[in-house]
Amino acid sequence: MTNDTRAKALSFQADLLSVVWSDGQQSDFAALWLIDNDPLHREPHSGQRLIDVADLPDAPKIRDATLKDAHVLIEWHDRAAPTSISISWLALQRDRPAAGSARPVRLWGDAAGMDARQDFEWLTATELRESGVNAARWFRRLGSEGLAFVSAVPARDGAILEAVAPIGLVQETNYGRVFDVRSVAKAENLAYTDLGLGLHTDNPYRDPVPGFQVLHCLLPAADGGDNLFADSFAIAEHLRQVHPEAFVILTQNAVPFHYHARDVELYSEKPMIQLGLQHEVIAVHYNNRSIAPLPPSAPGVTDYYEAYRCFAWHLRQAQFQLRMRMDKGDMVVFDNWRVLHARTSFSAARHLQGCYLTKDSVYSRVALESRHEDI
Ligand SMILES: [Fe+2]
Repeated sequence: MTNDTRAKALSFQADLLSVVWSDGQQSDFAALWLIDNDPLHREPHSGQRLIDVADLPDAPKIRDATLKDAHVLIEWHDRAAPTSISISWLALQRDRPAAGSARPVRLWGDAAGMDARQDFEWLTATELRESGVNAARWFRRLGSEGLAFVSAVPARDGAILEAVAPIGLVQETNYGRVFDVRSVAKAENLAYTDLGLGLHTDNPYRDPVPGFQVLHCLLPAADGGDNLFADSFAIAEHLRQVHPEAFVILTQNAVPFHYHARDVELYSEKPMIQLGLQHEVIAVHYNNRSIAPLPPSAPGVTDYYEAYRCFAWHLRQAQFQLRMRMDKGDMVVFDNWRVLHARTSFSAARHLQGCYLTKDSVYSRVALESRHEDI
Protein backbone atom coordinates (compact mmCIF):
# COMPACT_ATOMS: atom_id res chain seq x y z
CA MET A 1 0.00 0.00 0.00
CA THR A 2 1.33 3.39 -0.89
CA ASN A 3 1.86 6.04 1.76
CA ASP A 4 1.49 8.80 -0.78
CA THR A 5 -1.73 10.61 0.03
CA ARG A 6 -0.78 13.94 -1.53
CA ALA A 7 -2.50 15.14 -4.66
CA LYS A 8 -0.44 17.26 -7.06
CA ALA A 9 -3.11 18.20 -9.55
CA LEU A 10 -6.74 17.72 -10.42
CA SER A 11 -8.41 17.67 -13.79
CA PHE A 12 -11.87 16.71 -14.87
CA GLN A 13 -14.26 16.01 -17.69
CA ALA A 14 -18.03 16.00 -17.24
CA ASP A 15 -18.09 12.36 -16.18
CA LEU A 16 -14.59 11.85 -14.77
CA LEU A 17 -12.31 13.29 -12.11
CA SER A 18 -8.57 12.65 -12.44
CA VAL A 19 -6.13 13.03 -9.57
CA VAL A 20 -2.40 13.18 -10.21
CA TRP A 21 -0.58 12.13 -7.07
CA SER A 22 2.75 13.53 -5.98
CA ASP A 23 4.42 10.26 -7.08
CA GLY A 24 3.27 11.04 -10.64
CA GLN A 25 0.63 8.29 -10.79
CA GLN A 26 -2.87 9.16 -11.91
CA SER A 27 -6.19 7.81 -10.62
CA ASP A 28 -9.51 8.28 -12.38
CA PHE A 29 -12.82 8.40 -10.53
CA ALA A 30 -16.11 8.19 -12.44
CA ALA A 31 -18.74 10.85 -11.63
CA LEU A 32 -21.29 8.21 -10.65
CA TRP A 33 -18.78 6.55 -8.34
CA LEU A 34 -18.07 9.90 -6.67
CA ILE A 35 -21.74 10.54 -5.93
CA ASP A 36 -22.27 6.97 -4.76
CA ASN A 37 -19.38 7.45 -2.32
CA ASP A 38 -20.29 10.97 -1.20
CA PRO A 39 -19.80 10.96 2.61
CA LEU A 40 -23.15 12.76 2.88
CA HIS A 41 -24.77 9.50 1.81
CA ARG A 42 -23.37 7.59 4.75
CA GLU A 43 -24.66 7.39 8.29
CA PRO A 44 -21.85 9.03 10.29
CA HIS A 45 -21.74 6.56 13.20
CA SER A 46 -21.82 3.21 11.38
CA GLY A 47 -20.36 4.47 8.10
CA GLN A 48 -23.00 2.47 6.23
CA ARG A 49 -24.53 3.76 3.02
CA LEU A 50 -27.98 5.36 3.28
CA ILE A 51 -28.87 5.36 -0.41
CA ASP A 52 -29.36 2.72 -3.05
CA VAL A 53 -27.77 2.97 -6.51
CA ALA A 54 -31.28 3.36 -7.93
CA ASP A 55 -31.33 6.76 -6.14
CA LEU A 56 -28.36 8.03 -8.18
CA PRO A 57 -28.84 10.38 -11.14
CA ASP A 58 -28.47 8.86 -14.61
CA ALA A 59 -25.54 10.89 -15.84
CA PRO A 60 -24.17 13.40 -13.31
CA LYS A 61 -21.94 16.06 -14.83
CA ILE A 62 -19.00 17.64 -13.05
CA ARG A 63 -18.97 21.46 -13.33
CA ASP A 64 -15.87 22.11 -11.25
CA ALA A 65 -13.38 20.31 -9.03
CA THR A 66 -10.97 21.99 -6.65
CA LEU A 67 -8.63 21.01 -3.84
CA LYS A 68 -9.58 22.52 -0.52
CA ASP A 69 -8.45 21.64 3.01
CA ALA A 70 -7.20 18.16 2.03
CA HIS A 71 -10.51 17.47 0.31
CA VAL A 72 -11.67 17.43 -3.28
CA LEU A 73 -14.69 19.68 -3.67
CA ILE A 74 -16.80 18.71 -6.66
CA GLU A 75 -19.58 20.92 -7.96
CA TRP A 76 -22.20 19.53 -10.26
CA HIS A 77 -24.14 20.91 -13.21
CA ASP A 78 -27.31 19.18 -12.19
CA ARG A 79 -27.04 18.90 -8.41
CA ALA A 80 -27.28 21.69 -5.90
CA ALA A 81 -25.15 20.13 -3.16
CA PRO A 82 -21.40 19.83 -3.86
CA THR A 83 -19.55 16.65 -2.96
CA SER A 84 -16.56 16.83 -0.63
CA ILE A 85 -14.31 13.78 -0.35
CA SER A 86 -11.05 13.62 1.59
CA ILE A 87 -7.91 13.12 -0.44
CA SER A 88 -6.58 10.56 2.00
CA TRP A 89 -9.70 8.43 1.54
CA LEU A 90 -9.37 8.65 -2.25
CA ALA A 91 -5.72 7.67 -1.88
CA LEU A 92 -6.76 4.53 -0.01
CA GLN A 93 -9.13 3.57 -2.83
CA ARG A 94 -6.47 3.88 -5.51
CA ASP A 95 -4.64 0.87 -4.08
CA ARG A 96 -7.62 -1.41 -4.26
CA PRO A 97 -7.55 -3.94 -7.06
CA ALA A 98 -10.33 -3.78 -9.64
CA ALA A 99 -11.44 -7.26 -8.55
CA GLY A 100 -10.11 -10.31 -6.78
CA SER A 101 -8.72 -10.89 -3.35
CA ALA A 102 -6.53 -8.25 -1.80
CA ARG A 103 -5.42 -10.83 0.77
CA PRO A 104 -1.68 -11.42 0.61
CA VAL A 105 -0.71 -15.01 -0.14
CA ARG A 106 2.82 -16.31 0.31
CA LEU A 107 3.24 -19.67 -1.36
CA TRP A 108 5.38 -22.21 0.44
CA GLY A 109 8.68 -22.94 -1.20
CA ASP A 110 10.27 -26.37 -1.08
CA ALA A 111 8.10 -27.86 1.66
CA ALA A 112 10.33 -30.92 2.08
CA GLY A 113 13.20 -28.65 3.01
CA MET A 114 11.19 -26.70 5.56
CA ASP A 115 11.09 -27.25 9.28
CA ALA A 116 7.60 -26.68 10.69
CA ARG A 117 9.11 -25.53 14.00
CA GLN A 118 11.45 -23.00 12.39
CA ASP A 119 9.80 -21.89 9.19
CA PHE A 120 6.26 -21.25 10.40
CA GLU A 121 4.96 -19.04 13.16
CA TRP A 122 4.62 -20.42 16.70
CA LEU A 123 3.26 -18.83 19.86
CA THR A 124 2.28 -20.28 23.19
CA ALA A 125 -1.42 -20.22 24.04
CA THR A 126 -0.70 -17.52 26.63
CA GLU A 127 1.22 -15.35 24.16
CA LEU A 128 -1.61 -15.62 21.66
CA ARG A 129 -4.13 -14.39 24.22
CA GLU A 130 -1.95 -11.36 24.96
CA SER A 131 -2.71 -9.21 21.96
CA GLY A 132 0.40 -7.37 20.79
CA VAL A 133 3.22 -7.42 18.31
CA ASN A 134 3.78 -11.19 18.54
CA ALA A 135 0.11 -12.01 18.10
CA ALA A 136 -0.09 -9.57 15.18
CA ARG A 137 2.79 -11.33 13.44
CA TRP A 138 1.25 -14.75 14.13
CA PHE A 139 -2.05 -13.73 12.54
CA ARG A 140 -0.43 -12.08 9.56
CA ARG A 141 1.60 -15.19 8.81
CA LEU A 142 -1.43 -17.44 9.36
CA GLY A 143 -3.20 -15.29 6.79
CA SER A 144 -0.44 -15.31 4.20
CA GLU A 145 0.89 -18.86 4.70
CA GLY A 146 -2.36 -20.55 5.70
CA LEU A 147 -0.72 -22.44 8.57
CA ALA A 148 0.49 -21.52 12.07
CA PHE A 149 1.05 -23.29 15.36
CA VAL A 150 0.30 -22.83 19.04
CA SER A 151 2.25 -24.60 21.77
CA ALA A 152 1.65 -25.24 25.46
CA VAL A 153 -2.09 -25.75 25.11
CA PRO A 154 -3.04 -27.76 28.21
CA ALA A 155 -3.39 -31.40 27.20
CA ARG A 156 -6.87 -31.88 28.55
CA ASP A 157 -10.26 -32.48 27.05
CA GLY A 158 -11.85 -29.27 25.73
CA ALA A 159 -8.78 -27.05 26.21
CA ILE A 160 -8.88 -26.48 22.44
CA LEU A 161 -12.01 -24.35 22.82
CA GLU A 162 -10.28 -21.93 25.19
CA ALA A 163 -7.20 -21.85 22.95
CA VAL A 164 -9.14 -20.99 19.78
CA ALA A 165 -11.22 -18.24 21.43
CA PRO A 166 -8.77 -15.49 20.34
CA ILE A 167 -8.50 -16.94 16.82
CA GLY A 168 -12.07 -17.27 15.53
CA LEU A 169 -15.58 -18.59 15.96
CA VAL A 170 -16.17 -22.31 16.17
CA GLN A 171 -18.13 -23.81 13.27
CA GLU A 172 -20.15 -26.66 14.70
CA THR A 173 -20.90 -29.65 12.48
CA ASN A 174 -22.50 -33.07 12.86
CA TYR A 175 -19.15 -34.09 14.41
CA GLY A 176 -19.88 -31.64 17.25
CA ARG A 177 -18.20 -28.42 18.36
CA VAL A 178 -15.13 -30.52 19.04
CA PHE A 179 -14.29 -33.89 17.52
CA ASP A 180 -11.94 -36.56 18.78
CA VAL A 181 -9.48 -37.98 16.28
CA ARG A 182 -8.55 -41.39 17.63
CA SER A 183 -9.06 -44.97 16.66
CA VAL A 184 -12.48 -46.37 17.54
CA ALA A 185 -14.29 -49.58 16.61
CA LYS A 186 -16.70 -49.46 13.62
CA ALA A 187 -15.71 -45.90 12.74
CA GLU A 188 -18.09 -43.98 10.45
CA ASN A 189 -15.13 -41.96 9.18
CA LEU A 190 -11.69 -43.32 8.34
CA ALA A 191 -10.23 -40.41 10.31
CA TYR A 192 -11.35 -42.31 13.41
CA THR A 193 -9.18 -45.33 12.70
CA ASP A 194 -5.43 -45.93 12.94
CA LEU A 195 -5.05 -45.91 9.16
CA GLY A 196 -2.78 -43.46 7.42
CA LEU A 197 -4.66 -40.74 5.56
CA GLY A 198 -3.47 -39.13 2.33
CA LEU A 199 -3.30 -35.39 1.88
CA HIS A 200 -6.78 -33.91 1.84
CA THR A 201 -8.93 -30.99 2.82
CA ASP A 202 -11.77 -31.66 5.23
CA ASN A 203 -15.48 -31.85 4.49
CA PRO A 204 -15.75 -30.69 0.86
CA TYR A 205 -19.28 -32.17 0.99
CA ARG A 206 -20.39 -29.28 3.22
CA ASP A 207 -21.69 -25.80 2.37
CA PRO A 208 -19.83 -23.81 3.40
CA VAL A 209 -16.73 -25.95 3.67
CA PRO A 210 -15.20 -25.36 7.11
CA GLY A 211 -12.85 -22.41 6.74
CA PHE A 212 -10.15 -23.28 9.24
CA GLN A 213 -9.27 -26.49 10.98
CA VAL A 214 -7.57 -26.75 14.35
CA LEU A 215 -6.00 -29.92 15.72
CA HIS A 216 -4.72 -30.17 19.28
CA CYS A 217 -2.45 -33.02 20.28
CA LEU A 218 -3.49 -34.57 23.58
CA LEU A 219 -1.50 -37.75 23.15
CA PRO A 220 1.07 -38.31 20.39
CA ALA A 221 1.39 -41.87 19.15
CA ALA A 222 4.49 -43.63 20.40
CA ASP A 223 4.79 -45.18 16.96
CA GLY A 224 3.73 -43.44 13.72
CA GLY A 225 1.04 -40.79 13.43
CA ASP A 226 3.28 -38.12 11.88
CA ASN A 227 1.54 -35.08 10.37
CA LEU A 228 1.97 -33.92 6.79
CA PHE A 229 0.84 -30.64 5.33
CA ALA A 230 0.90 -29.27 1.79
CA ASP A 231 0.18 -25.89 0.23
CA SER A 232 -2.41 -26.72 -2.42
CA PHE A 233 -2.14 -23.20 -3.85
CA ALA A 234 1.54 -23.87 -4.62
CA ILE A 235 0.63 -27.17 -6.25
CA ALA A 236 -2.15 -25.52 -8.26
CA GLU A 237 0.27 -22.84 -9.48
CA HIS A 238 2.74 -25.55 -10.42
CA LEU A 239 0.01 -27.27 -12.44
CA ARG A 240 -0.94 -23.99 -14.09
CA GLN A 241 2.65 -23.65 -15.33
CA VAL A 242 3.64 -27.22 -16.06
CA HIS A 243 0.36 -29.05 -16.75
CA PRO A 244 -1.97 -26.33 -18.04
CA GLU A 245 -4.47 -28.80 -19.53
CA ALA A 246 -4.94 -30.50 -16.16
CA PHE A 247 -5.22 -27.12 -14.45
CA VAL A 248 -7.99 -26.00 -16.81
CA ILE A 249 -9.93 -29.26 -16.41
CA LEU A 250 -9.73 -29.14 -12.61
CA THR A 251 -10.89 -25.51 -12.51
CA GLN A 252 -13.73 -25.83 -15.01
CA ASN A 253 -15.47 -29.00 -13.88
CA ALA A 254 -17.38 -29.47 -10.65
CA VAL A 255 -17.08 -32.82 -8.92
CA PRO A 256 -19.50 -34.32 -6.39
CA PHE A 257 -18.54 -34.86 -2.76
CA HIS A 258 -20.70 -37.00 -0.52
CA TYR A 259 -20.85 -38.07 3.11
CA HIS A 260 -23.57 -40.15 4.63
CA ALA A 261 -23.91 -41.69 8.03
CA ARG A 262 -26.78 -42.77 10.24
CA ASP A 263 -27.94 -39.23 11.00
CA VAL A 264 -26.57 -37.11 8.17
CA GLU A 265 -26.62 -36.90 4.37
CA LEU A 266 -24.28 -34.28 2.93
CA TYR A 267 -23.66 -33.57 -0.75
CA SER A 268 -21.99 -30.73 -2.57
CA GLU A 269 -20.45 -30.13 -5.98
CA LYS A 270 -17.46 -27.91 -6.57
CA PRO A 271 -14.36 -27.71 -8.73
CA MET A 272 -11.25 -29.14 -7.10
CA ILE A 273 -9.43 -25.93 -7.92
CA GLN A 274 -11.59 -22.84 -7.60
CA LEU A 275 -10.60 -19.55 -9.26
CA GLY A 276 -11.49 -15.95 -8.55
CA LEU A 277 -12.30 -13.28 -11.09
CA GLN A 278 -8.63 -12.54 -11.70
CA HIS A 279 -8.06 -16.27 -12.31
CA GLU A 280 -6.29 -16.49 -8.97
CA VAL A 281 -6.67 -19.69 -6.98
CA ILE A 282 -9.09 -19.06 -4.11
CA ALA A 283 -9.79 -22.59 -2.89
CA VAL A 284 -8.81 -26.20 -3.35
CA HIS A 285 -11.11 -28.99 -2.22
CA TYR A 286 -9.58 -32.44 -2.40
CA ASN A 287 -10.63 -35.53 -0.50
CA ASN A 288 -10.25 -38.99 -1.99
CA ARG A 289 -12.42 -40.53 0.73
CA SER A 290 -15.51 -38.45 0.05
CA ILE A 291 -15.42 -37.76 -3.68
CA ALA A 292 -18.58 -39.39 -5.03
CA PRO A 293 -18.53 -41.48 -8.22
CA LEU A 294 -18.08 -39.27 -11.24
CA PRO A 295 -20.92 -39.67 -13.77
CA PRO A 296 -19.54 -42.74 -15.59
CA SER A 297 -20.63 -41.80 -19.09
CA ALA A 298 -20.05 -38.05 -18.85
CA PRO A 299 -18.12 -36.73 -21.84
CA GLY A 300 -14.59 -36.02 -20.85
CA VAL A 301 -14.55 -38.33 -17.84
CA THR A 302 -11.33 -39.99 -19.02
CA ASP A 303 -9.67 -36.59 -19.45
CA TYR A 304 -10.92 -35.65 -16.00
CA TYR A 305 -9.29 -38.74 -14.51
CA GLU A 306 -6.03 -37.79 -16.16
CA ALA A 307 -6.13 -34.31 -14.60
CA TYR A 308 -7.29 -35.65 -11.23
CA ARG A 309 -4.50 -38.24 -11.21
CA CYS A 310 -1.99 -35.56 -12.18
CA PHE A 311 -2.99 -33.55 -9.11
CA ALA A 312 -2.91 -36.67 -6.90
CA TRP A 313 0.53 -37.62 -8.22
CA HIS A 314 1.88 -34.20 -7.25
CA LEU A 315 0.54 -34.62 -3.72
CA ARG A 316 2.82 -37.60 -3.35
CA GLN A 317 5.94 -35.67 -4.33
CA ALA A 318 8.17 -34.89 -1.35
CA GLN A 319 8.84 -31.33 -2.54
CA PHE A 320 5.27 -30.40 -1.65
CA GLN A 321 5.13 -32.18 1.71
CA LEU A 322 5.89 -30.56 5.04
CA ARG A 323 6.37 -33.35 7.57
CA MET A 324 6.34 -32.93 11.33
CA ARG A 325 5.46 -34.66 14.52
CA MET A 326 3.15 -32.86 16.89
CA ASP A 327 4.05 -33.07 20.56
CA LYS A 328 1.67 -33.16 23.46
CA GLY A 329 0.15 -29.70 23.84
CA ASP A 330 0.88 -28.59 20.27
CA MET A 331 -1.98 -27.18 18.25
CA VAL A 332 -2.01 -26.53 14.52
CA VAL A 333 -4.31 -24.01 12.82
CA PHE A 334 -4.72 -24.06 9.05
CA ASP A 335 -6.87 -22.72 6.23
CA ASN A 336 -8.92 -25.72 5.16
CA TRP A 337 -9.58 -24.11 1.76
CA ARG A 338 -5.86 -24.16 1.07
CA VAL A 339 -3.72 -26.39 3.28
CA LEU A 340 -4.00 -30.13 2.78
CA HIS A 341 -3.24 -32.37 5.74
CA ALA A 342 -2.39 -36.03 6.16
CA ARG A 343 -1.10 -38.47 8.73
CA THR A 344 0.89 -41.64 8.68
CA SER A 345 -0.62 -44.78 10.20
CA PHE A 346 -0.02 -45.50 13.85
CA SER A 347 -0.10 -48.55 16.01
CA ALA A 348 -0.20 -47.18 19.53
CA ALA A 349 -2.75 -44.91 21.21
CA ARG A 350 -3.00 -41.42 19.69
CA HIS A 351 -5.47 -38.70 20.51
CA LEU A 352 -6.04 -35.35 18.83
CA GLN A 353 -8.98 -33.07 19.40
CA GLY A 354 -10.13 -30.90 16.55
CA CYS A 355 -12.57 -28.18 15.70
CA TYR A 356 -13.43 -25.97 12.75
CA LEU A 357 -13.49 -22.19 12.70
CA THR A 358 -15.47 -20.01 10.34
CA LYS A 359 -13.31 -18.56 7.59
CA ASP A 360 -14.52 -14.99 7.89
CA SER A 361 -14.03 -14.80 11.65
CA VAL A 362 -10.37 -15.83 11.34
CA TYR A 363 -9.61 -13.53 8.40
CA SER A 364 -11.31 -10.73 10.31
CA ARG A 365 -8.75 -11.24 13.09
CA VAL A 366 -5.98 -11.37 10.48
CA ALA A 367 -7.19 -8.05 9.05
CA LEU A 368 -7.53 -6.44 12.48
CA GLU A 369 -4.02 -7.51 13.43
CA SER A 370 -2.70 -6.29 10.09
CA ARG A 371 -3.58 -2.78 11.18
CA HIS A 372 -0.31 -2.91 13.16
CA GLU A 373 1.87 -1.30 10.53
CA ASP A 374 5.21 -1.56 12.32
CA ILE A 375 5.77 -5.32 12.16
FE1 LIG B 1 -8.88 -34.41 7.94
